[in-house]
Amino acid sequence: GKKIILDCDPGHDDAVAILLALGNPAIDLLGVTTVGGNQSLDKVTYNARAVLEKAHAADVPVHMGCGRPLIREPEAAATIHGQSGLDGVELPVPSRPLDEGHAVNWIIDTIMANPPQTITLVPTGPLTNIALAARLEPRIVERVKEVVLMGGGYHVGNWSAVAEFNVKVDPEAAHIVFNESWPITMVGLDLTHQALCTPAVQRRMEALGTDLASFVSGLMDFFRASYRENQDFVDPPVHDPCTVAYLIDPTVITTRRCPVDVEIHGDLTLGMTVADFRGAEPTPEECHTQVAVHLDVERFWDLVIDAIRTLG
Ligand code: BDR
Ligand code: CA
Repeated sequence: GKKIILDCDPGHDDAVAILLALGNPAIDLLGVTTVGGNQSLDKVTYNARAVLEKAHAADVPVHMGCGRPLIREPEAAATIHGQSGLDGVELPVPSRPLDEGHAVNWIIDTIMANPPQTITLVPTGPLTNIALAARLEPRIVERVKEVVLMGGGYHVGNWSAVAEFNVKVDPEAAHIVFNESWPITMVGLDLTHQALCTPAVQRRMEALGTDLASFVSGLMDFFRASYRENQDFVDPPVHDPCTVAYLIDPTVITTRRCPVDVEIHGDLTLGMTVADFRGAEPTPEECHTQVAVHLDVERFWDLVIDAIRTLG
């Protein structure tokens, strides 16, 4: 399978991303790294371990990363993910201690120890760890295959009128990541707002009849309630697993190549991902960024449900 490192802040949708990566044979999840975002670093790290435990995958390494953004004060998303970061379900107690070593070092070591162009970085939280890794060992930039991240949006914001949470809470880190030369696919809100977990989708999950399926459904109940209360959604957009789905099957998502940069000076626009659609198509090959545009919704949920089934 495709070797990935999932850098996340679970988080209801991060949890689904972990399960999709574990439950699909096209993906080889080398490890999970954590970053403060949706909740404190301690909480999201515990959550990552608990989700792996729930999926009978406690052997997957988990490395704890940065607890706060590069420059700004931390800002959690308790209104969306609750006080634990994964409210609404009972979490199993991890059976194995947390792995030693900082996430940033582990990311670097793993990329440098593997052949070039074999590892894909999948960030689904603030980009603090990835930015620091690129600064600490610049050779990783050429060496990773690609970066497929959940963050930003070219026409939509959720943490401000124009900025998305993962980018908004650490805009300087996002700026570093988008301005490195690695191939980046931005799976932003324009795409992820198509990945709505409807009651019909949830009924399909529940029909699997497994403990894991009811766990995911419980997560989705809480997520739906949060989005109804705080974001004016009827069904919750399950952002983070869209990245993994794209890696499993690139035809699930259509993309458009264009330059993307991150606003770090704006007062009203801080953390905005500015995509420049003015260029002629096709965009020159040297443009290293592309944005996700359209989701094959049915296929996406098929993949998620298949993964939950596979994990038993
Ligand atoms: C992103 O923010 C977090 O709350 C979610 O986990 C997702 O990564 C959506 O803006
Ligand atoms: Ca996330």
